[in-house]
Amino acid sequence: MTSGVYKISLITLQGLALLITPCLASPELESLAAGSEVYSQHCAQCHSDGSANGMVTALVASPLLKEPPQATARIILFGRRGGEGGGIMPAQASLSDEDIAAVVAYVRAKFVDQHDPFFKEDVAALRRSP
Ligand code: HEC
Repeated sequence: MTSGVYKISLITLQGLALLITPCLASPELESLAAGSEVYSQHCAQCHSDGSANGMVTALVASPLLKEPPQATARIILFGRRGGEGGGIMPAQASLSDEDIAAVVAYVRAKFVDQHDPFFKEDVAALRRSP
């Protein structure tokens, strides 16, 4: 009787593992989780949840984010001066190539639903030739 219960819970566990493993193994999801971490530590103090506020343009639906991922990486590497009345975003170039690649993938996936692959090598290339 008890062993029957164990069997059932084992099968359930195996089923769960089968469901979860491909998700965890997906490189995009891993990078998105890392990017979300970078975002909360280095971007959210100004950009909050991606909506516009007094100082910043909204990241949600931003036409700039919809451009190829290099455009977003350049803003992070070199900063950005807003138009009239806009704020100034200081360069975040002290972030590692890996963190920048991850946060670029994250903000583009989250705010404009774009999923181009983007890697630390692409960030390194932009540092060399902007
Ligand atoms: C100190 C505040 C600050 C921090 C930290 C910051 N930003 Fe910004 N960001 C700004 C301001 C201000 C602007 C607005 C400039 C403008 O009007 O385009 C901006 C603009 C942007 C834009 C362009 C949006 C658009 O459509 O014009 C992107 C993309 C962006 N930031 C991404 C990021 C990411 C990703 C991070 C974290 C790695 C980050 N920012 C960190 C202040 C900040």
